[in-house]
Amino acid sequence: MTIAIECQPSLDELGAMTPEEFVGALRSVCSAPGRGMANHPVVAAVENGTATLPQLQLFTEQFYLHIRNMLPWIGQIYVRCPYEEVRLTLVKNLAEECLGTFTDTKAHPELLLEFGSAIGLDAEASRAKEQLLVGRQLTEYFEFMSNCRPWYVALAAIGIGLESFVPDTFTRLVAGFKLNYQLTDEQLVFWTMHILADQEHGDEGIEIVSEYATTPEARRYVYECTVETSERYFDLWNIFQSVD
Ligand SMILES: [Fe+2]
Repeated sequence: MTIAIECQPSLDELGAMTPEEFVGALRSVCSAPGRGMANHPVVAAVENGTATLPQLQLFTEQFYLHIRNMLPWIGQIYVRCPYEEVRLTLVKNLAEECLGTFTDTKAHPELLLEFGSAIGLDAEASRAKEQLLVGRQLTEYFEFMSNCRPWYVALAAIGIGLESFVPDTFTRLVAGFKLNYQLTDEQLVFWTMHILADQEHGDEGIEIVSEYATTPEARRYVYECTVETSERYFDLWNIFQSVD
């Protein structure tokens, strides 16, 4: 589902907002139906136990392929970012995503496949699968942002449009997975480790906006791309509804 951007603030309005107001406005737009992960139908379906195993398996497989295939575009932001301190943060993020370095776990895509195995997904077969259209559209949007927009745009889109919603959303999913699907803590590491890891990202979004997206034009790029990212993310998660 894609929703047209309604009542987008003007350039003057975007420039006049404080970073906190700007991030708050974007978060509220990204919480609307059809956008992002907040109150996504898959969350309700897990909470009330109506999501079937084939639905959760497809959701997990396509989510895995997206997070695995989008990591190179984080590397591309590293290449294009001129600030050493931000590049250092990006290298740490990549080390964590690719190796689980700082949480002493594993590559995050591997952790998601382990969850998949716990719900009956064939993990080895999933590695070789193609991304379906909605997944490709999200992954390729990261490729577009990383190459064709200022370096901070994709970072802001991830931090404000996605990760700032992770603690609430993943907490609800974990409760549903335990209650309705009898999954154990060990099988839910992908979800639980992100609840802790992403607790700071709301503030990081404010920091990126206040330090780097300082002109009205920069804010417009961040605004438009964050909203579009959240719509494509919604569509990816909604893939669970395409099977019974
Ligand atoms: Fe991750």
